[in-house]
Amino acid sequence: MRGFQAEKFCDIRTPFYYYDLEVLKQTLSSIKSAVSGLDNYRIHYAIKANFNPKILSFIAQEGLGADCVSGGEIKAAIEAGFQPDSVVFAGVGKRDDEIRYALSVGIGRFNVESPAELEVIDSIAKQIGVVAPISIRVNPNIAAHTHSNIATGHEDNKFGINYPDLPKLISEVQSLQNVEFKGLHYHIGSQILDMKDFIALADRINEINEELKSAGLPIGDINVGGGLGIDYQDPDANPIPDFAGYFAAFRNNLKYDGIVHFELGRSVVAQCGTLINRVLYIKEGINKKFAIIDGSMTELIRPALYNAKHKIQNISSNGAPTLYDVVGPVCESSDVFGQDISLPECHRGDFIAIRSAGAYGESMSSCYNCRPLPQGVFSDELK
Ligand code: LLP
Repeated sequence: MRGFQAEKFCDIRTPFYYYDLEVLKQTLSSIKSAVSGLDNYRIHYAIKANFNPKILSFIAQEGLGADCVSGGEIKAAIEAGFQPDSVVFAGVGKRDDEIRYALSVGIGRFNVESPAELEVIDSIAKQIGVVAPISIRVNPNIAAHTHSNIATGHEDNKFGINYPDLPKLISEVQSLQNVEFKGLHYHIGSQILDMKDFIALADRINEINEELKSAGLPIGDINVGGGLGIDYQDPDANPIPDFAGYFAAFRNNLKYDGIVHFELGRSVVAQCGTLINRVLYIKEGINKKFAIIDGSMTELIRPALYNAKHKIQNISSNGAPTLYDVVGPVCESSDVFGQDISLPECHRGDFIAIRSAGAYGESMSSCYNCRPLPQGVFSDELK
């Protein structure tokens, strides 16, 4: 990771997202080398992690497919240059107009999450006169080791269908005229660093495949979802996630040689993005000092929503290390980026970098408190 040159940021209105394209490029090339020779692996980028148009077109140019969860994401993906047939479309609540749009552009796959949704897709496909390619999202009942808000593969989560319902649903897809069964989809959660969770998924998929085979049912291709985590504590030591370990978990454990799809979001874009803020005020509390910055939970909601800890740096000062609670201006007591953070002594106007913010940062920003949405600034745009 190259250091930040704070003087380049002086004319830009803070808070803003700074994206280092070199880091993104290195990340994408690490993915490519980790899957080289694995010709049956298809990598899709999960658009929800960051849909800044420049990020999207950069990733599309590298030949990845797109993983989308709304009509808006499909549109953004296609406008950025992703091939329509590389688009997979998941989500428990697809609207009719989104299904119609997805069919009209010819996406590669609907990841169907309920029998009710299957019927609606079949009937809309019939109206248009097309056949919809279908995978069924299966809930593998695996509790991944991650924050409960982002674990998705347990039987009590709303996602996918439970295994006992799978054989019946596959037969139903086969009996309908305007849908075609193409495969099975899984996703166990996000920010997963323990490869044993992915191995458990591979083992579960092997079991399900065996059961389907003995019932004489098709499997089609397999989509194992996303979820690879990143190092939030030390992004400089580990700017590139463990792609080799992640793909090896499937290569060594998944007993399947058909097409395998992956949907990676966070691991592709998190480390290339930094939220750049400025210190507004230093305020002395009774027991602590507050560094009040101009960025807030409206630009980066992860600390407030998941208690996420992003690395925080003062990139303007060489002062003595001092402890601060780093907080934003929004009227919520959860608008806190970190407590008791040691930073070089902070002054009004210093630049504060909040690291590893490329994923689920800009894409989850809001206008709460009538705050403007943050802009994205790219390393190749700064002189
Ligand atoms: N596929 C499906 C079906 C998903 O639901 C997700 C993420 C992904 C792929 C991509 O997962 P990734 O590789 O990024 O872990 N906002 C939260 C994360 C929510 C993840 C939602 N689903 C956060 O900031 O931690």
